[in-house]
Amino acid sequence: MAFVIGAACVDVLDRACVDECPVDCIFEGNRMAYIQPDECTDCGACEPACPVEAIYYEDDMPDGQDEFIAENARFFTEPLPGRAEPLGHPGGASAVGRLGVDTVFVQQYQP
Ligand code: F3S
Ligand code: F3S
Repeated sequence: MAFVIGAACVDVLDRACVDECPVDCIFEGNRMAYIQPDECTDCGACEPACPVEAIYYEDDMPDGQDEFIAENARFFTEPLPGRAEPLGHPGGASAVGRLGVDTVFVQQYQP
């Protein structure tokens, strides 16, 4: 289980959550941010930081947003557009910086 970033983050990408994560597992894509589900410790620190309430515990994801649970994982487990290898566990989001790319689902997402 993990915390997950949902639809409200798309095209907002406020980043307030990034500074709250003690394990540096919130990665910045292009339209939104993604939580590395293997690294998230379920501490909950990120959730209240988001001004648009985009972050939920996985089990509490609002109806119609289940796809975002898969997308948060897919961002790390499948090669992103234009890349040959999955991102995997790159060792901390701050070291990686803004990736500037999203999953195909998020690229095409229409709010
Ligand atoms: Fe990080 Fe805790 Fe959220 S580990 S992703 S701040 S739940
Ligand atoms: Fe997105 Fe909210 Fe974080 S808009 S980047 S989930 S603070």
